[in-house]
Amino acid sequence: MFQWTAKMGRIGFFLTIFAFIGGLSPSTWSATPSSQRLPKNHLVENHFLTFQSELEPFSSPIARDLTINDEFISPIDQILSESFWISLPDQTQILQTSAPTGEKRWQFPVGTQVAHEIKFKDAHQTLFELRILEKLPGEVWGFGAYILNPNGDDDLILQTEAMEQRRELKLGSPEGREWLVKIAPLRQRTCAGCHQATTSNPAPEGEADKVGPCGFTAANPFVTGEWVQKFRAAKGYSPILER
Ligand code: HEC
Repeated sequence: MFQWTAKMGRIGFFLTIFAFIGGLSPSTWSATPSSQRLPKNHLVENHFLTFQSELEPFSSPIARDLTINDEFISPIDQILSESFWISLPDQTQILQTSAPTGEKRWQFPVGTQVAHEIKFKDAHQTLFELRILEKLPGEVWGFGAYILNPNGDDDLILQTEAMEQRRELKLGSPEGREWLVKIAPLRQRTCAGCHQATTSNPAPEGEADKVGPCGFTAANPFVTGEWVQKFRAAKGYSPILER
């Protein structure tokens, strides 16, 4: 059976980098989340709670062709930070079932949103991307990346295929230097394929729309420990219903 470990995460990461970012396009298009726009402070407004990954930072790829002042940056945590968040609709629970092998499977309520927030470490902690996975009706997950509205208004907008080009941003470093950042986002068509390859909660073969979270599963001890306690304290009930 597939065992999710940090080491496999790394191996999977390199394999998938070649397979997905290198240009092979998997035929796993998936749905998008239900809204085209989100408020800038979506995570706070909608009472998301953070959870810790059990993988090393930046175990999932962030972008293609990232340079600052035309230099490639390595490792990328010098200039980017990431955090993980989840929100369940009010009074709902995750349904937990156990396979005969003892493996625990999670089924999430419709409306669940899991987020991967990625920010630059510039003077203003500018958002690069808010990646959202949303549980839609019919066991389907929508994948999308929201970005700052280039028109300058206050909402985040869902990135479309036409916006997947390399773009330029002018940012200020914390020490007051100028950063010319060039960055191309991941392609949305690669999201579900990679999640299917790296999750411990895989969807049935060939059902790309049913692929869900990678790190937010019953196999992550920080989720079943720390996050469950934090959820109980905040909401007053258990987020997990065992069947
Ligand atoms: C090459 C593999 C890969 C690709 C492509 C990828 N992800 Fe992920 N993603 C991961 C892994 C691995 C994690 C878990 C990271 C961790 O826990 O440190 C993750 C985590 C996440 C999370 C946090 C919740 C969770 O699943 O644990 C969200 C939300 C997410 N990804 C959305 C997306 C979206 C949207 C895209 C497409 C724009 C995408 N991902 C593309 C591998 C990938």
